[in-house]
Amino acid sequence: MLGPVILAASRSDKMRRLVSAAPVTKQVVDRFIPGETVDAVVPIVQEAVASGLELTMDVVGEDITTPEQAAAARDAYLELIDRLKVLGHGTKAEMSVKLSMFGQALEGGHELALANVRPVVEAAAAIGTTVTLDAEDHTTLDSMFAIHEELRKDFPQTGCVIQSYLFRTEDDARRLAAAGSRVRLVKGAYKEPASVAYQDKADIDKAYVRVLRILMEGDGYPMVGSHDPRLVAIAQELAHRAGRKLDDYEFQMLYGIRSDEHHRLAAEGHRMRVYTAYGTDWYGYFMRRLAEKPANLLFFFRSMLTK
Ligand code: FDA
Repeated sequence: MLGPVILAASRSDKMRRLVSAAPVTKQVVDRFIPGETVDAVVPIVQEAVASGLELTMDVVGEDITTPEQAAAARDAYLELIDRLKVLGHGTKAEMSVKLSMFGQALEGGHELALANVRPVVEAAAAIGTTVTLDAEDHTTLDSMFAIHEELRKDFPQTGCVIQSYLFRTEDDARRLAAAGSRVRLVKGAYKEPASVAYQDKADIDKAYVRVLRILMEGDGYPMVGSHDPRLVAIAQELAHRAGRKLDDYEFQMLYGIRSDEHHRLAAEGHRMRVYTAYGTDWYGYFMRRLAEKPANLLFFFRSMLTK
C-alpha cells in the first residue's frame, strides 16, 4: 500500500527538499549509503574486499537536468575508478551506472549518455573491471539495451539489469542469455503501470523464477540480485540443475540489507557482490529503499519523533 506512494514521492522536488532537510534523515540514510565522498567510501570498499566480498559501486544521482551535470557524473565515476586502483587489477569492485545520470533524458540524450558512459567503461576495463547498466523505469529501457549492445561491441563484459516485474523481461532474458553476457536479474524498484508490469508480489516472484531459469539454463553469466531467501535458495537449486559451478554465477545484494546473508553466502564459497551506493545526491536511491520495506519508513518517522 505505502510503496507506490513513496515511489511517487521519490520523483517530487517538494518531498526531496522536505526529506533532505529533516534533522534525522542522515542517520537513516547512512544505513544504506555508507559515505558521501570518495575518501569515505574507498576504505569501506577495501575492508569489504578483505572480508571476502565483491562490490558494485553506484555514485548516487539521477534525473539530472543539464549536460554539465551529466559530465560531472561521468567524472565522479572516473575519479572513483582511478582511486580503486589500490585494489589492483580485477573485478572485485565493478561499477553500476544509471544512464539517466549520464544525460539519457535530455535532448539528444541517447547519444549523450552513450558518449558519457563510454569513457567510464574504458577506464573500468583498464583496471580489469566491468560496468553494469542499471535498469530504470520502463520508458528508458530500449535506449539502455541499445547502449548496452553498442558498448558490448568493444567491451563484451559490460553487464545490464532486467526486472522481473515487466512483461517484456522473459523475451529480454532469452535474447541476453548468450555466451559472454552478464545479466543481473532484480524484481524492479520503480512505479510501473499495469499495462507493462505485474502489480502483485506473487506474480513478480513467479516471473523472477521463470526468468532466472532462462538465465541459468543459458550461456551467459547470471547475477542474482535479490534479498529474498526463497529466491536465493531457488537460484542455488536452478544453478545446480543447470550444471553451473559456484563461480559460474553470483549473488548480489544491497549495502545495508541482510548483511549477515552477504557473509554467509560468501563463506559458502559463492561470489557475493554488494551494491554500494555513495555520494550526496542520495534522495531517489534512499526513497526506493524505503518503498521496498515500509518498516524502514516507520523507523525513519520514529527517529524523527524521538529526536
Ligand atoms: P523483497 O522486496 O521481497 O525483499 C525480500 C526481503 O529482503 C525482505 O523481506 C526484507 O527482509 C529484505 N529487504 C528487501 N528490501 C529491503 C529494504 N529496502 N530494506 C530492508 N530490507 C529489505 N531495481 C531496479 O529497478 N533496477 C536496478 O538496476 C536495480 N539494481 C539492483 C541491484 C541489486 C544488487 C539489488 C539487490 C537490487 C537492485 N534493484 C534494482 C532493486 C530491486 O528491484 C528490488 O527493489 C529490491 O532488491 C527488493 O527486492 P528483493 O528481491 O530483495 O525482494
